[in-house]
Amino acid sequence: MFKKEFVIENLEQLKDFANKISKCLQGNEIILLKGDLGSGKTTFTRFLVENIDKEAAEYVNSPTFNILNEYDTERFKIYHLDLYRVKNFDISDIAGRGLVVVEWPDTTYYELDEPIIDISFEIFECEKRKISLYVKNGESVEECLKQGL
Ligand SMILES: Nc1ncnc2c1ncn2[C@@H]1O[C@H](COP(=O)(O)OP(=O)(O)O)[C@@H](O)[C@H]1O
Ligand SMILES: [Mg+2]
Repeated sequence: MFKKEFVIENLEQLKDFANKISKCLQGNEIILLKGDLGSGKTTFTRFLVENIDKEAAEYVNSPTFNILNEYDTERFKIYHLDLYRVKNFDISDIAGRGLVVVEWPDTTYYELDEPIIDISFEIFECEKRKISLYVKNGESVEECLKQGL
């Protein structure tokens, strides 16, 4: 288990944070993104995907209306979900078969066996965010994030 808090001052720093995380990913993780509307969950996802595959990042938008977006990248498949209006969405079919990034996750996802990276965004000021990161189940990703973040 690895836990850490960060203060992000602007989009540039968020990009750098996403870049460091993307370097540690193997493609079987589940990233749970929490925080109010406008706190930066989709923006973080766009930066993350951009670091993994620049072309795929063009397609990152908020999947609020279609629930699930899929991005094919050079490294692995990415599933991007937004469950703002959805309850009990079963991700067992996609968990572990690519990187899964979930905005407004279901609390039951904590019980999955895949490496879980939980990231909470809190708005401080217009561009300033407090970010709490929590990682479980993934020894190698935990170790990498401990070194890299
Ligand atoms: N440091 C920051 N981190 C994240 N978003 C920021 C930051 N500063 C400004 N923003 C802006 O806040 C908005 C966040 O929106 P979005 O990523 O769609 O949030 P969410 O998906 O959490 O609803 C974007 O317009 C983004 O440009
Ligand atoms: Mg969003």
